[in-house]
Amino acid sequence: MGHAQPRSSQWYGGRDRNSYIHRAWMRRGAPMDAFDGKPQIAIANTASDLTPCNAHLDEVAQHVKMGVWEAGGVPHNLPVVSLGETQMRPTAMLWRNMAAMAAEELLRANPIDGVVLLGGCDKTIPALLMAAASVDIPAVVVPGGPMATGTFRGRALGCGTDVWRLSEETRGGEMSAEDFLRSESSMIRSKGHCNTMGTASTMALMAEALGVVLPGLAGTPAVDSNLLAGAHETGRTILEMVRQDRRPSTTITRASFLNAIVALAAIGGSTNAVVHLLAIAGRLGVELSLDDFDRVGSGVPLLVNLQPSGEFLMDDFHRAGGFRSVLRDVRDLLDPEAITITGRPLVDGLDEARVWDGDVIRDRAAPLQRDAGIAVLRGNLAPGGAVIKPAAASPHLMTHSGPAVVFDSVEDLHARIDDPDLEVDENSVLVLRGCGPKGYPGMPEVSNMPLPRKLLERGVRDVVRICDGRMSGTAYGTVVLHVTPEAAAGGPLALVRTGDVISLDVPARRIEVLISDEDLAARSPSERTVQSFANPARGWERLYVDHVLQADAGVDLDFLVGSSGSEVLRESH
Ligand code: FES
Ligand code: MG
Repeated sequence: MGHAQPRSSQWYGGRDRNSYIHRAWMRRGAPMDAFDGKPQIAIANTASDLTPCNAHLDEVAQHVKMGVWEAGGVPHNLPVVSLGETQMRPTAMLWRNMAAMAAEELLRANPIDGVVLLGGCDKTIPALLMAAASVDIPAVVVPGGPMATGTFRGRALGCGTDVWRLSEETRGGEMSAEDFLRSESSMIRSKGHCNTMGTASTMALMAEALGVVLPGLAGTPAVDSNLLAGAHETGRTILEMVRQDRRPSTTITRASFLNAIVALAAIGGSTNAVVHLLAIAGRLGVELSLDDFDRVGSGVPLLVNLQPSGEFLMDDFHRAGGFRSVLRDVRDLLDPEAITITGRPLVDGLDEARVWDGDVIRDRAAPLQRDAGIAVLRGNLAPGGAVIKPAAASPHLMTHSGPAVVFDSVEDLHARIDDPDLEVDENSVLVLRGCGPKGYPGMPEVSNMPLPRKLLERGVRDVVRICDGRMSGTAYGTVVLHVTPEAAAGGPLALVRTGDVISLDVPARRIEVLISDEDLAARSPSERTVQSFANPARGWERLYVDHVLQADAGVDLDFLVGSSGSEVLRESH
């Protein structure tokens, strides 16, 4: 059994002046017994008009509220910092930790006993889970769900993925600039987040794999009335979690993370999941390393035929059976001990899951790709590791050597990439630096650099690219990313020069520049290179650059790692 008295009784219990204040200001129509020991449930809500993928979450919150009331709790809508992936400059990732820190403090400072986390767009679910882990009160996620699929001239549009594709087709001369712009109004068909297996879809499924979503709910489309029913049911569930004292630290274990890594490979999920899962593990004090992703995930087959690795989209995935049917297929690779917020194992009831469309969710015997999980590369270019997503890469480039074409910044890249005089061919290796957590700052999604126009015109659609930034979960290509340490943190990526030969060997897990250790050590970064690194004067960016950890540690701030629990020692008056 859980606590006899809920945490909120520290505010609302008693007959003194302070409990009077806490109760009186909350009495705005709530039933008279609302503060007599009933669990108080926050709904951490990232609804925002400037996070368009989450704008419908106010409606979802209403259904959570009904479930909370019904089960004997008192719900409270709690707007939290929201991050819109497509809108925020220089990158939404710069504020993932700020959103997590703000949500953490709000959850701790307020009289609440449990929280329902409403997220969707890329950074929102990771930030909320980081916050909940550091406060460690009962917490459950309702993912906002993917949007319905839009079409342009009969062709389904994958959010993100088709923007990259159509833009390259336009630059390569296969599509007119007018048609490219015409497709814009067809891209976003409904409420909800991106419909590809990008970061939003991936993190919703990762939350379910970690056990913090009602089983079967993640991936339910935003327009589906089952999402609202699931929100209602989640409202009931959080009350049971509070009564059983089921918290992040008692639910999310190392076994949960290893299950998530298996699932990440099977769904062909976003590389961004690597940094988010490492950050969440860091908050929980669960030991998880970059190498766990390769060791546990790299031999897992790709079963889900969704963009960017395949062809279909999230509503197809839902129709085909959804996440539970994928988990059923890889059940032998899952740890049966890992439990969910229901108190029962993740693998419980998987026998009932079915695949209804084998083109969308492949059979284990006929996967889209074997050994599809994220591979971790090391070598003199990335002593701390770098990642590549084989499911999104070109098989013919997985072992490749070629001369580097180096760019010191995205501005440098955009200024020169289409220059007819740029010395580049299909064997070249494009290198972009200054895009790590400190260098940009915020580690933007720029690693999938556009290809030089003169290569596009010759029909080249992929070359090896290396960067210390991230790439969109909707992107594809033979891209080595998250190079650690980043150039701005003293990484050897800062020392590479145009013309150096770079060798990529994914089967051997190597990424190297073919010059001797002595020659590399004798180099120092050019003034031009150093000048491109961010050096903010004040504010969040200064704090961020001074404290952000590298990609192999989840890009959290050093002082946010771990948990402070839910204890608040002092009264406000
Ligand atoms: Fe919000 Fe893709 S931009 S999920
Ligand atoms: Mg993104």
